[in-house]
Amino acid sequence: ARLPAGGDRLGGTFGQSPSLEAWYPQRLRVELLHRNGLDADPLGADFDYAAEFAKIDLEALKADIKRLLTTSVDWWPADYGNYGPQMVRMAWHAAGTYRIADGRGGAGTAMQRFAPISSWWDNGNTDKSRRLLQPIKHRYGAALSWADLMVLTGNCALELMGLRTYGFAGGRLDAWEPDEGTWWGPEVWNPHDVHSSDDMVQRDQRWHGKNGDAGYDLQSPLAASHQALIYVNPEGPYANGDPLGSARDIRTTFTRMAMNDEETVALIAGGHAFGKSHGQVKADRIGPPPEIAPIEAMGLGWHNPEGSGNGRHTMTNGIEGSWTPNPLRWDNTYLENLFAYDYEQTRSPAGALQWTPTDPDAPRTPDAHVPGVSHPLMMMTSDIALKVDPEYRKVCEKFLADFDTFTLAFSKAWYKLTHRDMGPRFRYLGPEATIEDDLLWQDPLPEADGAPIDGDDVEALKRTILATGLSVSDLAFTAFSAASTYRDSDKRGGANGGRLALAPQRDWAVNRRTVPVVDALRRVKADFDGSAAGGKRVSLADLIVLGGCAAVEQAARDAGVPTAVPFTPGRVDTTQELTDVEMFEWLRPVADGFRNHLDADFPAVAPGVAPEAVFLDRANLLTLTAPEWTVLTGGLRVLGANADGSAAGVFTDRIGVLSTDFFVHLTDTELVWTKDDETETTFTGTVQATGEARFSATRADLLFGSNAQLRSIVDVYAASDGLPRFVADFVAAWDKVMMLDRFDVKGAHRSG
Ligand code: HEM
Repeated sequence: ARLPAGGDRLGGTFGQSPSLEAWYPQRLRVELLHRNGLDADPLGADFDYAAEFAKIDLEALKADIKRLLTTSVDWWPADYGNYGPQMVRMAWHAAGTYRIADGRGGAGTAMQRFAPISSWWDNGNTDKSRRLLQPIKHRYGAALSWADLMVLTGNCALELMGLRTYGFAGGRLDAWEPDEGTWWGPEVWNPHDVHSSDDMVQRDQRWHGKNGDAGYDLQSPLAASHQALIYVNPEGPYANGDPLGSARDIRTTFTRMAMNDEETVALIAGGHAFGKSHGQVKADRIGPPPEIAPIEAMGLGWHNPEGSGNGRHTMTNGIEGSWTPNPLRWDNTYLENLFAYDYEQTRSPAGALQWTPTDPDAPRTPDAHVPGVSHPLMMMTSDIALKVDPEYRKVCEKFLADFDTFTLAFSKAWYKLTHRDMGPRFRYLGPEATIEDDLLWQDPLPEADGAPIDGDDVEALKRTILATGLSVSDLAFTAFSAASTYRDSDKRGGANGGRLALAPQRDWAVNRRTVPVVDALRRVKADFDGSAAGGKRVSLADLIVLGGCAAVEQAARDAGVPTAVPFTPGRVDTTQELTDVEMFEWLRPVADGFRNHLDADFPAVAPGVAPEAVFLDRANLLTLTAPEWTVLTGGLRVLGANADGSAAGVFTDRIGVLSTDFFVHLTDTELVWTKDDETETTFTGTVQATGEARFSATRADLLFGSNAQLRSIVDVYAASDGLPRFVADFVAAWDKVMMLDRFDVKGAHRSG
């Protein structure tokens, strides 16, 4: 039959498995660079979120949200008549996927709406929380993103229950399709059988080494001990009920979320001041998660067949009960009761491991739905962990003794949790965004310390820089080294701030070549600042980028295609005190294909990971398209911008000239490439006819000749008409990278 599909035997339709990935699991998924583009965004390229958000009366919006939180609806009745606690959990789970290693995850794009995150067991019933917010979303429309709404609702809930929050900034732009790129780790976790061996197998795959051995650690960049969980198993590692083991897991995972011990305790003790856990029904009776729920469920998952399926029958995680006598009030009773009583292991109606006070006279907590009924308090293994771990215990004791200190610590940690991935404060919107102090995790930038430079200064400075005798290669390398630390995941890094000249970046081996360049540029700065009229000053950050621009212009001139390279001054120099060295260390590349760098211990730190996969990851974090990725790499090679100054990939004898030589030689069919040794990290290109070893290369070079999608692009630049297009495209891509972190000038809230 003429069906547009495979018919009843195969059932195949457009995009169905088995797909390319199934046939060729090792292939590099270059097409991932083009996901979440404008094509998926119904708001279009001209949509200006900042302008729309500014029209909202935040006070009125917050009042609307708070009213909704206390108006229970029949299809999902509120525990204790207040949706606050479940909204706090929704917001925490939205933000809690953040991980410092690659900056991915976090609340910033409302990824909780899409699989896999939407359907993780740990996000059980957060689909109901988001659906409950739909009336607000519809009332405010495009002026209020889901991502902002989810975080703001968390804040409103906390305020409603008595916490003074630290602030709220809008400015999050929603994603419009699932993120297929992020590596969340293997998923073999079976939520219907939490104690199964699958659980253990899966957990072990995520960890290096063996449990109990030195060096046993969670694989980077993962931050959750299980995929389907935001952080740790509440029942302890392997659901074994071991509080000390749980404390180890909590420390590992919260550190990956960039939280220290004090912040960790504040967040857990603060969060569990509210609400309850739900464990009335055995997990194996619960329906499939949202992504694979029946079509008539309209996007809601985890159908619960028991009674009404909600209210007093609710089943979410499996543990049952509340931590405090008043689950709707911000107070210190979580810690008070945790420390005042001994707890013994019990099981919930769903069969999950939990803890109950041994003292029958311990305070009780009211039933969430049935008036006049009360229950014993509940603690999870991960709560008992705070009491038994010596360091966490110290923090608990401090908070127990001083409720105000605890309150401030929780509100600051909550603010950090929910704003961590927003990047520089230029991106913060709304009247509650302006808080007094700079916080170190915001990577603060000071105000400019003099009058700005103008166009004439820019031209004069370019000439001065080139006259210092610094080479085109060194200048381009240095500018690129500064700008390419940017990662769009959490909007950290980039050239602004001049952090290339500060620890830890100036000490990274991959940046060694920049040190003398930065010193020379410092002298240019001193001369300029000392002699410029009208109090004008140039920042080192601007000079680093300007040096690169001057070098690229020189290289284009030498290629016979003179081209102006855009330059936008206004970067500032920050200080060492305003630089969180430990948190910047996470930005150090272990492999950087742009600068043809591979850490000596690369295979050891990333066993089984191909360097080109890390290169693709980097291109993605720089928001590059495949053509931009290709043109930048080919250009950097002929500019001579390898970190170690090596000849790998430098397929030219005109180093510093912006030629298409890289592409021409990469596609030269007279050359035969062979691996140098079994590590398959370096290669030699030999002229077949003569046997002459002509070029050396790394995987970051040959990738562009071997991958079909990249090779198609290479053909464009290698062709006889390729040079003008190459120079223009290189300059555009170069400027894009230099400007990635310039939210101060380009605005941060346009989709296009
Ligand atoms: C509820 C685990 C940290 C806020 C829950 C539930 C579990 C859990 C299993 C019950 C879900 C349900 O069945 O409804 C954990 C673990 C944590 C952690 C293992 C880390 C070790 C946090 C943090 C916050 C938080 C950092 C917020 C700052 C909440 C709230 C609820 C909750 C408000 C109540 C939700 C409701 O009443 O519906 N947590 N949690 N939790 N959690 Fe956590």
